[in-house]
Amino acid sequence: MKTILVTGGAGFIGSNFIRHIFNKYPDYKIIVLDALTYAGNIENIPREIRDSKRFEFWYGNLNNIDMVADIVERSQIVVHFAAETHVARSLYLNRVFFITDVLGTQAIANAILKHLDGIERFIHISTSEVYGTALFEPMDEGHPLNPTSPYAAAKAGADRLVYSYINSYDIPGVIIRPFNNYGPYQHLEKAIPRFITSALLKEPLSIHGDGSAARDWIFVDDTAEAIDRAIHCPISEVKGEAFNIGTGISISVLEIAKKVIEIFGLDEKYLTFMEDRFGQVQNHISSTEKAEKILGFRTKTTFDEGLLKIITWYKDNKPLWEKQLMMRKVPVKNRDGEIVWY
Ligand SMILES: NC(=O)c1ccc[n+]([C@@H]2O[C@H](COP(=O)([O-])OP(=O)(O)OC[C@H]3O[C@@H](n4cnc5c(N)ncnc54)[C@H](O)[C@@H]3O)[C@@H](O)[C@H]2O)c1
Repeated sequence: MKTILVTGGAGFIGSNFIRHIFNKYPDYKIIVLDALTYAGNIENIPREIRDSKRFEFWYGNLNNIDMVADIVERSQIVVHFAAETHVARSLYLNRVFFITDVLGTQAIANAILKHLDGIERFIHISTSEVYGTALFEPMDEGHPLNPTSPYAAAKAGADRLVYSYINSYDIPGVIIRPFNNYGPYQHLEKAIPRFITSALLKEPLSIHGDGSAARDWIFVDDTAEAIDRAIHCPISEVKGEAFNIGTGISISVLEIAKKVIEIFGLDEKYLTFMEDRFGQVQNHISSTEKAEKILGFRTKTTFDEGLLKIITWYKDNKPLWEKQLMMRKVPVKNRDGEIVWY
């Protein structure tokens, strides 16, 4: 029996990853550490997993250093998802992003260092946001890190912190940089869930700027598979490496909103435009080469398939997401010092 510690396991990607690991590896025990912030929900983890002897939930903050060290000591694999994750929120309420994303990652990295003998692998979940807008496309792992929002800056700090620990202390770390994920259990503050739930409620879909910002959208099950591969491929091939996890295809926010209204049979009057978000990344598209070559990973879900899957999920799971309706928009202080709702 191996023990895998998943931080942030009650969040969107973490909970989908747990489902993947729990079903695929019957000899793995999963420990989740999660502070259950506004973004975390214990109900994101299915009851059959929560009730299993192979599952343990620890309510707590990454910055509870002693507790983190005790849980890490009992684990062989650590997958670190926990973070503050919403770009728009980071434009206003930004201090917590640095406390959680940078110092919280340091707490995990220090615990790993303390219990290095027992740790086989540390998977740090970074993000494509660390790159900023693409200087060249597709973006490979050598693309400069030019974060354009406080969220991205905090994640870039954490990403390089882990890299420095691998180099300074030889911890068995791997850095994963997923591009934009979508799928079940994502918080309504994020673009695709916001569009789908607005369409379900026959409310306008609000788009930042002209909607031309384009991203590489990856279905969350594919991300879980990529992380699984980073855990299980020989350490000599992945230690100290960063891996982009994306599809190699980019789609603009406007195109997505149009796809959603078309599926729901709504007309273009449902598309509304608001002021552009500052700190916005304009273009993102992942190079898939390194993940394909070393992890043998390629995405399986096309965007149109994934979109239909989650539309069905949001239709079937209203009680889970309707509590988040009032959090679809977040307050941001703009450059003139005014509070606007994004
Ligand atoms: N969602 C995406 O598109 C995306 C893309 C690339 C990378 N990522 C990264 O993947 C990871 C997970 O993202 P997500 O979208 O699932 O996020 P999320 O916001 O849905 O979940 C974050 C989880 O972390 C927990 N958490 C927050 N602060 C904590 C703290 N101080 N201590 C313990 N737990 C805490 C929350 O309660 C929540 O359960 C993050 O590191 C994020 O930066 C996300």
